[in-house]
Amino acid sequence: MEPIIVLHAGAGTVPDNLRESARVGILDAIKVAWEILVNGGSAIDAVERAVEEMENYPQFNAGTGSVLTEKGTIEMDALIMDGKTRGIGGVIGVSTVKNPVKLSREIMDQSAHVIFTKEGAEQFAIENNIEIIDEELLITERSKNRLEKFLKQEGGYGSDINSSDPERREKYGTVGAVAIDVNGNFAAATSTGGVLGKKVGRVGDTPIPGSGNYADDMMAFSATGVGEYIIRAVLGMEVKSQLMIDNDPKTASKRALEVMMNNIGGAAGLILVTRDGWAAEKTTRDLIYAARTTEMTDFYDFSMDYSQ
Ligand code: GLY
Repeated sequence: MEPIIVLHAGAGTVPDNLRESARVGILDAIKVAWEILVNGGSAIDAVERAVEEMENYPQFNAGTGSVLTEKGTIEMDALIMDGKTRGIGGVIGVSTVKNPVKLSREIMDQSAHVIFTKEGAEQFAIENNIEIIDEELLITERSKNRLEKFLKQEGGYGSDINSSDPERREKYGTVGAVAIDVNGNFAAATSTGGVLGKKVGRVGDTPIPGSGNYADDMMAFSATGVGEYIIRAVLGMEVKSQLMIDNDPKTASKRALEVMMNNIGGAAGLILVTRDGWAAEKTTRDLIYAARTTEMTDFYDFSMDYSQ
């Protein structure tokens, strides 16, 4: 099989002054992951490494640089799925784990359980030598400034999707990776700080298998956007349903987003890999994504003309 990897680092509106640094962050991540795949490594290792890199990149909303809850705290969610083994590992609401994707992988590989929340997840991390970090070190000045601005603005949670202010629409910065390896196995990983100004305890789509992240023996999928809508749409499963109707990944992705928009609303972007290729689609103005195949050199894009 020819390997393929696609990454995203969020949908929404990327302000002009952040576009170049987003490009650097996502391309650095895809280079690391591509090396794994072209050297015969597994899809699951490639997606884990790509997401780890993006969690460490402070501009993206995952790991260091995660957006803050309305109380100014960090609550990160992550999920990893191995399409070959149907293994799943995930965490919900962790605030002291440097790389939630690494903890998710450890849970997938070492635990009898599948998903842990908060203290249980952090306890599992300590017991399995996954790096714990002071919550303050995950909080950037930019995250603090954005929360301050959010708390002052009119409209409250969810009012930002259609705001005319680009910075208000720029908050759906979940990161994700989907891949197929030389052995034809799929994997997906997604990690997020959630949505800016969320209530404490709120859970988004990222750690919900089949909604924000999914892999099996026919596809690998990762979403970004407003979790409440993605969960209601069960977006990963909608993509799978659409692939049964038309196996073109771009067509299936567009149709799944249309189903979500027509029935539920919201805003989302997604990336998808199947045996027939890959797709990166969105309902927002921008989707930060990068793809790599044996036929193409590094590639990234922010804007595709779809459903603005
Ligand atoms: N898509 C990330 C979240 O809603 O939490």
